Amino acid sequence: MSATTTDHTAAEVTINGAATRFDGPPHTNALDFLRGQGLTAAKEGCAEGECGACAILVARPDETGGTRWTSVNSCLLPAAALDGGEVVTAEGLATGDTVHPVQEEMAVRGGSQCGYCTPGFISSMAAEYYRPERGADAAENAAAAGAAGDAHEDHQCGPNGFDLHSLSGNLCRCTGYRPIRDAAYSLGQPSEDDALAARRDRPAPAAVPTDYRRADTATGTIGRYRRPATLAEAVEILSSEPEVTVVAGATDWGVEVNIKGARAKNVLAVDRLDEMRGVRRTSDHIELGASHTLSELERELAGDIPLLGKLFPQFASRLIRNGATIGGNLGTGSPIGDTPPALLALEAELVLTSVRGERSVALADYFTGYRQTIRDADELITAIRIPLPLSPLTSFQKIAKRRFDDISSVAIGYAVDVRDGQIAKARIGLGGVAATPLRARATEAMLEGRPWSLETVHAAAETLAGEGTPMDDHRASAKYRTAMLRSSLERFYAEQLGRTSVTSKEVK
Ligand SMILES: Cc1cc2nc3c(=O)[nH]c(=O)nc-3n(C[C@H](O)[C@H](O)[C@H](O)COP(=O)(O)OP(=O)(O)OC[C@H]3O[C@@H](n4cnc5c(N)ncnc54)[C@H](O)[C@@H]3O)c2cc1C
Ligand code: FES
Ligand code: FES
Repeated sequence: MSATTTDHTAAEVTINGAATRFDGPPHTNALDFLRGQGLTAAKEGCAEGECGACAILVARPDETGGTRWTSVNSCLLPAAALDGGEVVTAEGLATGDTVHPVQEEMAVRGGSQCGYCTPGFISSMAAEYYRPERGADAAENAAAAGAAGDAHEDHQCGPNGFDLHSLSGNLCRCTGYRPIRDAAYSLGQPSEDDALAARRDRPAPAAVPTDYRRADTATGTIGRYRRPATLAEAVEILSSEPEVTVVAGATDWGVEVNIKGARAKNVLAVDRLDEMRGVRRTSDHIELGASHTLSELERELAGDIPLLGKLFPQFASRLIRNGATIGGNLGTGSPIGDTPPALLALEAELVLTSVRGERSVALADYFTGYRQTIRDADELITAIRIPLPLSPLTSFQKIAKRRFDDISSVAIGYAVDVRDGQIAKARIGLGGVAATPLRARATEAMLEGRPWSLETVHAAAETLAGEGTPMDDHRASAKYRTAMLRSSLERFYAEQLGRTSVTSKEVK
């Protein structure tokens, strides 16, 4: 990020190639801003990140130094966060009277009926169309199709490498998903004269330091949205202005603003601070930048932490993962966040930074009560450290009402090391069964030193069922949560055998 912070009352955004000014109240979301510009393709369906009708494309930095067209929920993103950025909406995809290949396929395959959801689908589909790795996935799929006969049915990606899960955050009420899938799987590669494809080879706009201030006519107060240039500046602001509201990807904060009417007078944006981004590897740990999004981590880790590799696809939708940061997931202090159970099993440490410097705390000691943590008000979570070596047997079990794009009722992370048939080390993280995420310490102690067998698993099942203090709520009953804990170890054991279940006959 460049070093000087500009103080201004308008944010400058490039929308569909045209420089545009945003000068509305700081709590305005990108969707309302775009619609106010007459760009009404993106729609409001839910205003809480659940439907994808508001999806747009933003130019984000790629690990290779280029640009990645990234789909996000514009209903959650503060418009001021777009300062210095580049946006493409469904309107901007067509060239004159020529529709974009994604629009063409959706039209000819019958992918749209009432059309309310369509621009959102088009935006998510376009992001996947321009995903640089899609060509390689297509080649892999073609090879798999040769070997297995039909990669189309058996793989997450279509024969053209299109990952259907890129559409997991988009809902359609009337068309039905088959024609939409047909459109997605019919897409070729971008042509050589495709301007958005060419744009990928140039760097994304650098994050500009922003100090955006506007009077909010509704409340009569001055609202401020600030994105400092450095971490040092950010912690200084946090220290001297205790009322400041820290915001990263705004996937939680955006819901508070839209649904609960939350208004912050003073926002401190930490999503683009270089010091809080990236993946750093040392000989004894892997460090994840707190402001890296779940999608960035998924891509950059590329399976290096298999337990997180199992978690990412189960976390919300691609649209949410493109905005949500790992630091934000821990910053909420929520007992049902998905990363804590996995990170507890991985024995993660958090790096907390303030004007006093940096301290490292075990995640197991971080949560102190319902949405309470040991983080001081003037501290930021700046990184998450995963110690090495990793235990080889891992699992992430998310029990929710829907398989994808849902909040957990119960989540369980496992990291187990078995040596010569004995359990040398067991770490189990739990979410959704107490006021805080927690380690299943009694179960861990019971497992360690015992043979890795179904008998051991059954013996420990009741102990696991007794961990935590599950409650009844709208997601699940306490009884159901306990039952999920009781059956979880057996499921983990079966997974390690490459199976979905084990039978009672297998117990000697
Ligand atoms: C439709 C939808 C689906 C979702 N599905 C899931 C799901 O499956 N699993 C799940 O776990 N969550 C889910 N969430 C919740 C949310 O996406 C995550 O909690 C996300 O990780 C929050 O990150 P963010 O960057 O968007 O945080 P923000 O909204 O920017 O901030 C969230 C909180 O964390 C604080 N914060 C942010 N960064 C820091 C930091 N570096 N240091 C200290 N405090 C910080 C903020 O002050 C704020 O209180 C979902 C949300 C939506 C809207
Ligand atoms: S309006 Fe539904 S996700 Fe944004
Ligand atoms: S076409 Fe009507 S909601 Fe999708």
